Amino acid sequence: MRQLIAGNWKMFGKLADVPAYASAVLAAPTHVDLLVCPPFTLLDRFAAALKGSQVALGGQDCHANPQGAHTGDIAAPMLAEVGARYVILGHSERRNDHGEANAVIRAKTEAAMAAGLIPIVCVGETEAEREAGEAMQVVRSQLQHSLPAGFAGVAAYEPVWAIGTGRTPTETDITAMHADIRAALLAQLGEAGAKIQILYGGSVKPGNAASLLALPEVGGALVGGASLKAEDFLAIANAAPRG
Ligand code: PGA
Repeated sequence: MRQLIAGNWKMFGKLADVPAYASAVLAAPTHVDLLVCPPFTLLDRFAAALKGSQVALGGQDCHANPQGAHTGDIAAPMLAEVGARYVILGHSERRNDHGEANAVIRAKTEAAMAAGLIPIVCVGETEAEREAGEAMQVVRSQLQHSLPAGFAGVAAYEPVWAIGTGRTPTETDITAMHADIRAALLAQLGEAGAKIQILYGGSVKPGNAASLLALPEVGGALVGGASLKAEDFLAIANAAPRG
């Protein structure tokens, strides 16, 4: 399966950044699926700039309802209308900044699927949980409670302590966690669990991408900081294994 290299711009970026970035990613390697998730304000401009290309767009969150009186929120059908194909859900920054619990993330995931979007559901332990030997248990519980029945999307393993810190788990730890996530997906979703791509996220950079993306059960990367510079993002995409 082709790897998915997803860029999460978080709360960065201006309209003026779009043209140069879009033309750079249009020259992306073709052996991966490339996805850009900019802030909502840039989606429409990006959609126009990437029209007809293989580069996909995504949102960074959506509401669980298709519309309604929810000031400041964005509905999944709105993302779809503007040209998004994916939406990141349950990112640890949403879980922390907005107190999003697994049940909320599950409802949002259902809403995304109903709107025809591909949800990317994030899970991952804190440093304290890892030190206490609870990483796998935490991740398993997040998967169990945030993925709805019939989940069709992408899972992203993002250890909270590796996000934006320049630190990553060891290759052995990532391999063990991704194997455990695969087992959990199979147990939860049956055969469909075999098809779910599992991304790794947390301090993926051009310098470590080749070794991280070559690990078993790593189906791509969710890239934060390094996705803001097109050159670094493309270097990561280029580092993904071919075939
Ligand atoms: P980072 O962020 O690459 O800046 O560590 C990853 C993420 O939060 O998705």
